[in-house]
Amino acid sequence: MHKKLIAANWKMFMTPAQSTALIQELLSHITQLPEDREVLITPPFTALQNATASLKNTPGFSTGAQNFYPEQQGAFTGEISPVMLTACGCTHALAGHSERRHILGEDNNLISKKILCGLSHDLHMILCVGETLSQRRAGHVEQLLREQLESALEKVDKKTGPAMLSIAYEPVWAIGTGEVADSQEIITAHTCIRTLLEKIFPEKGKQIRILYGGSVKPDNIDQILFLDNVNGVLVGGASLDAKKFADIVLAT
Ligand code: PGA
Repeated sequence: MHKKLIAANWKMFMTPAQSTALIQELLSHITQLPEDREVLITPPFTALQNATASLKNTPGFSTGAQNFYPEQQGAFTGEISPVMLTACGCTHALAGHSERRHILGEDNNLISKKILCGLSHDLHMILCVGETLSQRRAGHVEQLLREQLESALEKVDKKTGPAMLSIAYEPVWAIGTGEVADSQEIITAHTCIRTLLEKIFPEKGKQIRILYGGSVKPDNIDQILFLDNVNGVLVGGASLDAKKFADIVLAT
């Protein structure tokens, strides 16, 4: 299995100058990155170049985009293409984050296009999936995860795709709310995702990292990061605080 991926989702926070300062402070807290860890920072587009430059000579750290439009170029006012991202030195991208699904109205069809387009431009894609509270209460978690995973991944190349894919399980009710899924809920969902991945990618589904996201903090990371089938975390709020994020990265 790969190293554990500790990913920061900065959302719509941080100017270029603030991003440089935050990364400097973060690196001052992480004098030695543990061998089994990798760190990913996903700033807003406008801070991507600064963030990438700040991490240039820092092994184990990379940058990613929170979003892009799934075309190489064209008349798509206001959009950013994967080619523009890789030209900024960015290596990863998120797709299907619940804020984009629920606030921006992105559907499984668009998310599938983003996954395919990102992969075709050598971006490592992190597909976010997860249920709302009412879907959980109705007992629809497994069905929802199946729909989100199958629709996004069915056209991905079975041989080359898995090495460039990660999944982030983020229950919508746990994002930014301070509420965390408990260990059993995380294990159950991640096991379900692993089984689905092995069905979609019979040979390589085992190798795909599954991250947990939703109110990850320094005081709960040690109860999350070492659970079965948890291969990393995606951190929103706590990643905007250098000390807190460093403590998450260094969790033992
Ligand atoms: P949170 O966000 O850590 O603030 O809950 C997680 C995410 O949206 O990826």
